[in-house]
Amino acid sequence: SSPALIDSFNRRISYLRVSITDRCDLRCNYCMPKDFKDFEEPINWLSHTEMARLVGVFVDLGVNKIRLTGGEPLTRKGVADLAGQIRALSGVKDLSLSTNATMLARHAVSLKAAGVDRLNVSLDTLDEQRFCEITGRNCLSKVLEGLNEARRVGFAPIKLNCVVDQSADESDLSRLLAYSLASGFILRLIETMPMGSSGQQFVAANLSDMGEAIAQRFGLVPALDFGNGGPARYWSAGENRPALGVITPMSRHFCETCNRVRLTVDGTLHLCLGQENQVPLGQMLRQGACDAELKAAIHQGIAAKPERHEFSSARTKVMRFMSQTGG
Ligand code: GTP
Ligand code: 5AD
Ligand code: SF4
Repeated sequence: SSPALIDSFNRRISYLRVSITDRCDLRCNYCMPKDFKDFEEPINWLSHTEMARLVGVFVDLGVNKIRLTGGEPLTRKGVADLAGQIRALSGVKDLSLSTNATMLARHAVSLKAAGVDRLNVSLDTLDEQRFCEITGRNCLSKVLEGLNEARRVGFAPIKLNCVVDQSADESDLSRLLAYSLASGFILRLIETMPMGSSGQQFVAANLSDMGEAIAQRFGLVPALDFGNGGPARYWSAGENRPALGVITPMSRHFCETCNRVRLTVDGTLHLCLGQENQVPLGQMLRQGACDAELKAAIHQGIAAKPERHEFSSARTKVMRFMSQTGG
């Protein structure tokens, strides 16, 4: 097979995150503004076949971990079918999906049957009114239903993603952690990244400190690295099983161990969440590029992968919204 993907900082790229739609049924304020209209034209959406082909090319280059994201991936028609096509590629060791879970109750069985290994679910609060303020919709109960169903069909452990900014209320976070522990989920607190024009208003909470404080309050102890290459640091409630994690792109970035790149719904390859570098693989594919040409373009892109994000620098504001790149 083809040579592996190693960038100029000697990082091995083995993880591809694929945004299968930029649409979402929620409008979480840190991700997509309420009046957002700049959606990708459906004609540019890669078909399932085109996506599976591109993913296959990456797998050939040594990528073995795939995550489906969005927007909200469950708004895309036939998502389980696409997941099944990707799971069938030999070389895929881990297929996961990040979802807001509003529609998870109805998809959990088919996702499991399609071979999805793991689910991460966005959940910022258990307070109905705050949920509504953050997401723009009053549907917390749907999310909790989705989580119950996913657990029932055997997804474990499910990770909850909670985006935290400076307005965070510690009692709200404690309530979420108590629920998460009782349900057997892993709660991950995430520092808000300033993506898009609306994202610029957020100041991330410093979770390097806050995580430690909450962990202590719940009697949790630091866990050995359990990230399977992911960005989180974890605490455990026992037996070294992770229970609480923090993801700190702002206060303590993890770029030196970065193992990932991203594809958007039109097949654009993004080399870093916090930089503009990209390769139009979808366009190349539609203009008839063969696998060897796609591979050459991917290698060229990886060679230009930036060392790190520069969210905190005023000079390099990323004006893409999180919903467009897929988190
Ligand atoms: P696991 O494989 O389960 O560890 O998943 P993950 O943490 O890689 O993915 P998930 O979609 O759950 O993302 C969790 C949070 O981490 C989101 O806020 C992402 O935006 C953030 N994140 C994931 N990858 C990166 C990255 O490469 N850089 C930065 N800055 N943030 C990232
Ligand atoms: N900063 C940090 N995390 C974000 N997410 C979405 N927008 C942001 C942001 N601006 C997270 C959501 C979702 C994950 C894929 O990305 O929690 O679960
Ligand atoms: Fe990798 Fe960029 Fe994320 Fe840093 S910000 S971990 S370099 S994708």
